Amino acid sequence: MAEVHPDVESVVLSEEDIRLIVSSMGRRISEDYADKNPLIVAVLRGAFVFTADLMRAITVPCSVDFMAVSSYGDGIKSSGVVRIVKDLDTKVEGRHVIVAEDILDSGLTLSYLVKLLRSRKPASIEIAAFSVKDIPNHAPAVTPRYVGAHVPDAFVVGYGLDYAERYRNLPYVGILKSEVYSR
Ligand code: XMP
Ligand code: MG
Repeated sequence: MAEVHPDVESVVLSEEDIRLIVSSMGRRISEDYADKNPLIVAVLRGAFVFTADLMRAITVPCSVDFMAVSSYGDGIKSSGVVRIVKDLDTKVEGRHVIVAEDILDSGLTLSYLVKLLRSRKPASIEIAAFSVKDIPNHAPAVTPRYVGAHVPDAFVVGYGLDYAERYRNLPYVGILKSEVYSR
């Protein structure tokens, strides 16, 4: 494996892990949505890397659109406030929507988003979460139909996930050293 970034404490999902996770999720979605022409809604910015790989693992017709919400700012704690920064260009009514998200933490962001999209009367709406944070004694506000992997309750970066817009380009997911965000 290539050198691990010096700001990364440890790798939790390697490139190979990610390949397996995404191809298996793509296979399941292809089975479940064979004749449904799903609309994949990627939640920017983090989910764009995952969505690009996921789409190529889906073997049935599908389309993609993007939505940008902001809940974390540049920090590491959720502000609890979800703001729509960019809305979809595609009409959702009657479509089978799959919301693709990079990481599910409290689930508040997705809970808000799903509620909003539901009001536009899709035929169905499900969540494909690349990763879900394992938080002791805490159930996320939404239940994704597709879950790629569970990650520890730590701040993780890479594969689209950032800290202050950095590290999205790392091809693996790793725990960020705490001195990076406390300095
Ligand atoms: P909630 O709590 O609403 O948060 O489920 C989901 C959003 O918060 C961001 N997030 C993270 N981003 N490393 C990141 O780079 C993390 O460990 C992390 N935890 C949450 C993420 O943008 C997600 O959409
Ligand atoms: Mg972020």
